[in-house]
Amino acid sequence: VPVVTVVVAAGSGSRLGARLPKALVELDSVALVRRAVDALLDGGVSEVVVTVPVGHEEAFREALAGTGSRLVHGGATRQESVRLGLAALAAPDDAVVLVHDAARALVPPEVVQRVTSAIVDGADVAVPVLPVVDSIRSVVGGGSEVVDRAMLRAVQTPQGARLGLLREAHEWLRRDGVEVTDDAAACEYRGHRVALVPGHRDAMKITEPVDLVFASALLAERKN
Ligand code: CTP
Ligand code: MG
Repeated sequence: VPVVTVVVAAGSGSRLGARLPKALVELDSVALVRRAVDALLDGGVSEVVVTVPVGHEEAFREALAGTGSRLVHGGATRQESVRLGLAALAAPDDAVVLVHDAARALVPPEVVQRVTSAIVDGADVAVPVLPVVDSIRSVVGGGSEVVDRAMLRAVQTPQGARLGLLREAHEWLRRDGVEVTDDAAACEYRGHRVALVPGHRDAMKITEPVDLVFASALLAERKN
């Protein structure tokens, strides 16, 4: 089956605070969105749709030159951008689709392959996860209580499903006016089961300026 992807890159990156949309910010002279798309292609995907912010089409086209990816405008929220990206994919309903954050620019290709394999092997939805390292408390009312972190996982992207299933899940969320934070939650809303595969430190989401420093150190380590 074909493996196709939506790379969501239409956010502004307000927490990063750069002059450019976050996906166009460069790490060692290569835009984050380019690094993300290259990692997905290395991981075996065949069709790439990238959601971009209005007004930056040309810069995205340049950053993605030669990758064969198609650009569509994103929406006001990540969820809306995913829905618009899914609508632009030409693949059949049974194709495997991966939704990936451009901000997770250094995702290793083996994580892409793990998510793909989980869907090919029969999972409805698959997400890469990592254990949580901090102690966690939930704040309830005026107080707080500890949460057993052994039960918790931090969720990364790419998140995988069959294209038809994911499109349907996003249509339902829209009809019902429900907001979720990721595609696994979108599918879960329709009762689908989420499979977990091992994530990777390098698939961290570049969110704040210090994350660029960390990402650049990861790149330097790769070269050695
Ligand atoms: N995204 C998108 N469309 C939106 C919002 C976010 O395509 N309307 C994408 C971002 O480009 C990013 C991914 O979703 O690759 C994860 O979002 P996040 O890390 O929050 O990026 P931003 O929303 O751009 O950053 P911030 O929240 O700091 O403004
Ligand atoms: Mg955001």
